[in-house]
Amino acid sequence: MNRLSPSILAADFNCLGNQIKTAYEAGADMLHVDVMDGLFVPSISFGMPVIESIRKNTDMFFDVHLMIEEPIRYIDTFRTVGADLITVHYEACKDVRSTLEAIKASGAKVGISIKPGTEPSVLEPFYDIVDLILVMTVEPGFGGQKLIPSCVEKLPGIRKRIAASGREIMLEVDGGVGAANAAEIMAAGADTIVAGSAVFRGDIEANVKALKALM
Ligand code: DX5
Ligand code: ZN
Repeated sequence: MNRLSPSILAADFNCLGNQIKTAYEAGADMLHVDVMDGLFVPSISFGMPVIESIRKNTDMFFDVHLMIEEPIRYIDTFRTVGADLITVHYEACKDVRSTLEAIKASGAKVGISIKPGTEPSVLEPFYDIVDLILVMTVEPGFGGQKLIPSCVEKLPGIRKRIAASGREIMLEVDGGVGAANAAEIMAAGADTIVAGSAVFRGDIEANVKALKALM
C-alpha cells in the first residue's frame, strides 16, 4: 500500500487544525510530525504540547519523526501524547536496539531513520524489529530543501532486504519530495512519501490529490 504523509512542519500553525483536516479529507494517509531539539539538528520545531493538541482533533495516524539526541528519554511521553509510530535516528541513539525496544514496549510502531551520509548497511541488525525505515533525502533540520538524488539510490537495496526479511516494513522517503520526483521515488522502492512544502504551500487539497495520483 502506498501512503502520503504530509509534514506539518510546512503548515501554517495559525490554522494548523484546519490544514490537517483539509489534507486528511483530500486523501492524506498519515500525518508526519517533525520534532527537532536544536542539538541533533540545528533547528527547534515543536514538541509534546502541539502533538497532544492536534491529537484531540483527528484520528489520523501520527508518524512522529524524532530528530532529537537520545530519544529513548522521551519515547513514553510521545506515545502518551498520541504518536502511533515513532521514528528515531540511527545516528542519535547511544543504544539503538534498546531505543527501538522502548518504542515497541510503548505500543507504538517502530521506525528508524538514516541521514544522507549514513550507509543502509547500519540497518542490518534491526530488520527484525522495525515497522518503518525512513531514508532522509536531505540533511534533516529544515523543510523546503532540494532532494539529494544519490540518496534515492539507497532504496532498491533496502527494498530487497525488506522482502528477504519476510516482514511488513514500510519504506519512507523524506526531504525535497514533490510532484517532480514522487513517481521516481516510488519506482525506486519507496511505499511512503513525506511531503511538507509540496503539500502545505499553496492549495493543500489540490496538492494532496496531485501527489496521490503520482503514487
Ligand atoms: C526535514 C524534515 C522533513 C521536512 C520535509 O528535516 O524531516 O520532514 O519537513 O519538508 P519538505 O517536504 O519541504 O522537504
Ligand atoms: Zn521528517
